[in-house]
Amino acid sequence: MTARMFLPMDAAAVAVGADDVAAALLAAAPDITLVRTGSRGLFWLEPLLEVETPEGRIGYGPVSAADVPEILAGGANSLRLGLVERLPFLRRQTRLTFSRCGVVDPRSLDDFRAHGGFVGLARALSLGPAGTVDEVAASGLRGRGGAGFPTGIKWKTVAGTVAPQKYIVCNADEGDSGTFSDRMIMEGDPFALIEGMTIAGFSVGATKGYIYIRSEYPHAIAAFADAVRIARAAGYLGANVMDGGFAFDIEVRVGAGAYVCGEETALLDSIEGKRGQVRPKPPLPAHEGLFGKPTVINNVISLATVPTILANGAAAYKDLGMGRSRGTMPIQLAGNVRFGGLFETAFGVTLGELVEDIGGGTSTGRLVRAVQVGGPLGAYFPPALFDTPFDYEAFAARDGLIGHGGIVVFDDRVDMLAQARFAMEFCAIESCGKCTPCRIGSTRGVEVLDRIRRGEKSDANRAVLADLCNTMKFGSLCALGGFTPYPVMSALTHFPEDFAPPPRVAAE
Ligand SMILES: Cc1cc2nc3c(=O)[nH]c(=O)nc-3n(C[C@H](O)[C@H](O)[C@H](O)COP(=O)(O)O)c2cc1C
Ligand code: SF4
Repeated sequence: MTARMFLPMDAAAVAVGADDVAAALLAAAPDITLVRTGSRGLFWLEPLLEVETPEGRIGYGPVSAADVPEILAGGANSLRLGLVERLPFLRRQTRLTFSRCGVVDPRSLDDFRAHGGFVGLARALSLGPAGTVDEVAASGLRGRGGAGFPTGIKWKTVAGTVAPQKYIVCNADEGDSGTFSDRMIMEGDPFALIEGMTIAGFSVGATKGYIYIRSEYPHAIAAFADAVRIARAAGYLGANVMDGGFAFDIEVRVGAGAYVCGEETALLDSIEGKRGQVRPKPPLPAHEGLFGKPTVINNVISLATVPTILANGAAAYKDLGMGRSRGTMPIQLAGNVRFGGLFETAFGVTLGELVEDIGGGTSTGRLVRAVQVGGPLGAYFPPALFDTPFDYEAFAARDGLIGHGGIVVFDDRVDMLAQARFAMEFCAIESCGKCTPCRIGSTRGVEVLDRIRRGEKSDANRAVLADLCNTMKFGSLCALGGFTPYPVMSALTHFPEDFAPPPRVAAE
């Protein structure tokens, strides 16, 4: 058999045996061409092996090394999924940022170019720096790291600040629970991110970029560092990018495991070699950022989306979405969910469609009781609020946030008081210590929740908890202390029975 096959080298696929499958394939059929790709994001089917045919790629999954002989013999019908692109989970998506992820060889520039790579950068060169910033602004793109700040405005501010040196910083700390989209891009389509960072550098006049990747992502660090070397050797980074007469290069920095170092100013301190602590604003990083110089800080997905916006035009991107949430969002379904993975779609899809329909409910088959949206600082939503559309403003109106697009699903056995306590404990552990409401408030929060758990003065302690959350929300310097009240208060508001004095009735 001299077929061409595709198998992810993505950390999620490797964790469930993709490397064993690769070894078994190459041992049994040394003649095949095995392309190691990123993941398509259908995690329940990993390792997902794809076999090239004249009709398209036929998928098999989840495959183990023991299944390899049968697949090579043309059998294994129980694992055969048909044409991968026709799988409903993929067909229902609008894949723009993730169009190449799981499709191309992430270390092949030829593959990248053959699938539309560098078209966006070429258009940026033809538009010029100011025209490129205008195009990004016109697309309506908002930062995908959590705060949803308009990317075009950020770039305009840095472009308009005069300085001998400016920087692009890519935030790849991806600390939110249940999120993995940054990792998937770095492992599955790293040249897209390099292209996006380069466009940002060209637009604002920055010659140097840093990417700050969390140390828990060894596969992403290796894949991205390889891609930087390959791009540099081919003239896509360096002194004269694409012969366009401008310089841009990228340096990889590895974090050390602090959630707060994902906050943009703590991240800058960390790159500068200091302990990661939040800086008061002003000055904005756009005016005085890394090493005191004007700096664009953007999330991986924000930057990796820019090439597709430039390639297809701002209007095409802006056409998608709802309200002020334009374009697509890579939503990550995690926790106790049947079809976990990455689902890129236009804003506006409801939470219920995502959890019950696309995600298929819980993997345990029990009822969904709560979902946490937006990472550890995001609110818990009960099914009664599943009509909430995925949109920054709609979530804010219900005291929630979409953050980096992570959804973590819990079934009817979840203890919401324990979840609230976890939020306070997480904040206490991860607090940078700079301000009192967060540093002290979170520890007091754990104590108050423990008193509620023991049934001590329940009403009075619930009132103290609400008061404490109010102080943290309005008195904290950054969103770690400021947003911890979201999971706590949403748990208390939507699941008051879990905060009642004992005995409480738990689900079977
Ligand atoms: C405690 C805390 C942790 C954060 N962690 C991340 C992170 O891991 N990745 C990220 O992109 N943004 C994170 N952010 C948001 C960043 O501060 C910043 O808004 C983002 O990097 C800006 O990029 P964007 O405009 O492209 O979203 C965090 C913010 C806070 C307060
Ligand atoms: S809210 Fe917490 S993490 Fe943020 S600056 Fe204050 S102490 Fe540091």
